[in-house]
Amino acid sequence: MTMYDIIDKKRHGKALNKEEIEYFVHGYVDEKIPDYQMASLLMAICCNGMEMEELTNLTIAMANSGDKFDLSPVNGVTVDKHSTGGVGDKTTLIVGPIVASLGCKVAKMSGRGLGFTGGTIDKLESIEGYNVIIPENDFINQVNRIGIGLISSSGNLAPADKKIYALRDVTATVESIPLIASSIMSKKIASGSKCILLDVKMGSGAFMQDLENATQLAEKMVNIGKLANRNTMAIITNMDMPLGLKIGNNLEVQESIDVLKGKGPEDLTNLCVELASCMLMLCTNKNKEECISLVKKSIEDGTAYSKFRELVIAQGGNVNVIDNPELFKKSKYIIEVKANKTGYIYKMNTSSIGRISCILGAGRERKEDIIDYSAGIELLKKTGDFIKEGDIIAKLHTSNNKIMEEAEKLYLNSIEISNEEPEKKPMVYKIIK
Ligand code: URA
Repeated sequence: MTMYDIIDKKRHGKALNKEEIEYFVHGYVDEKIPDYQMASLLMAICCNGMEMEELTNLTIAMANSGDKFDLSPVNGVTVDKHSTGGVGDKTTLIVGPIVASLGCKVAKMSGRGLGFTGGTIDKLESIEGYNVIIPENDFINQVNRIGIGLISSSGNLAPADKKIYALRDVTATVESIPLIASSIMSKKIASGSKCILLDVKMGSGAFMQDLENATQLAEKMVNIGKLANRNTMAIITNMDMPLGLKIGNNLEVQESIDVLKGKGPEDLTNLCVELASCMLMLCTNKNKEECISLVKKSIEDGTAYSKFRELVIAQGGNVNVIDNPELFKKSKYIIEVKANKTGYIYKMNTSSIGRISCILGAGRERKEDIIDYSAGIELLKKTGDFIKEGDIIAKLHTSNNKIMEEAEKLYLNSIEISNEEPEKKPMVYKIIK
């Protein structure tokens, strides 16, 4: 077998067999296959796609390329969730404690943010003292004791994905449904949970811009999950505007606390109730209505919030800041952005708003950039709201006085104001089981 033959076979649109897939995945991780041959194969996959069996073999080979988290010592049903990436998406901080308070076991590894989407680990690190790296045994004991642990992904989980993703990033092969599906699912399978909920984002702040592509991606990932013996479900949700009213690390933790206390914005609260009830359905035999009512009750009676406190305490975070969010560090400057026109907010360019939050200091353009945990955006008005010229529509939080004018200008450019009222879009488009 040679890499040349594998590339040639895929170029002619034929399905690769298990041996060929394992050959190039392991060969690439072991540095026996050079970048130029791997890039050529990735482009052939982009152009010709993959059959379901082929895609599952690719995903399993990538999941097996490094360490796999063994969650068998956890007593109970483990559940994980994954979002394909969005702006203002802090749902893990909310749904994790909710489902843990209802008996599911959440042993979750998350990543840091890069580009316009945020990462759960950065948000958690904005809580003073919160430790995202803990020894495996302590992590398992914590999950058995309190039902939840949220830590940073281990260094050698699915290394094939890490290498392939870096190559895709510079060879215009990121936007390929089979490559996205195998990338996400290899990490989820290696992370070890029995149940997996996939939140596939669709809209101006997401990879997937339309329902057809989002459905294809979701169906492929659900199929891979099932073939790998995981209870898997996907939910396609709206990312045409930022989620909730806050973007940026400690701002998002504060908003998560609001939702857990039953005082959060409606869109974010509704989505979290939906996601948490799907996770509970995956772990139990309960029907959707029962799950929704249990999830709402755990918010209303305070058990979800108590679970979040337990999590923060267990991982060394300062719970006094959680109980008194006014103690979170604040940015030096808060810029009020005023509407330059009267009308309805017709559209928000969500990815551009995500990039503005990076400019303010909340995210990274490059891996080595340092984050300002207090930076970000408060959205006072969103799509569908009627605004008058001069109304404050957002507050930009930053400690960098050199970018204030530019950020304000960019924010105004990312909002489209019209005399026409926009059509209201649903938060949940589709559930795929
Ligand atoms: N997220 C991933 O983890 N991988 C992709 O390919 C795209 C989004």
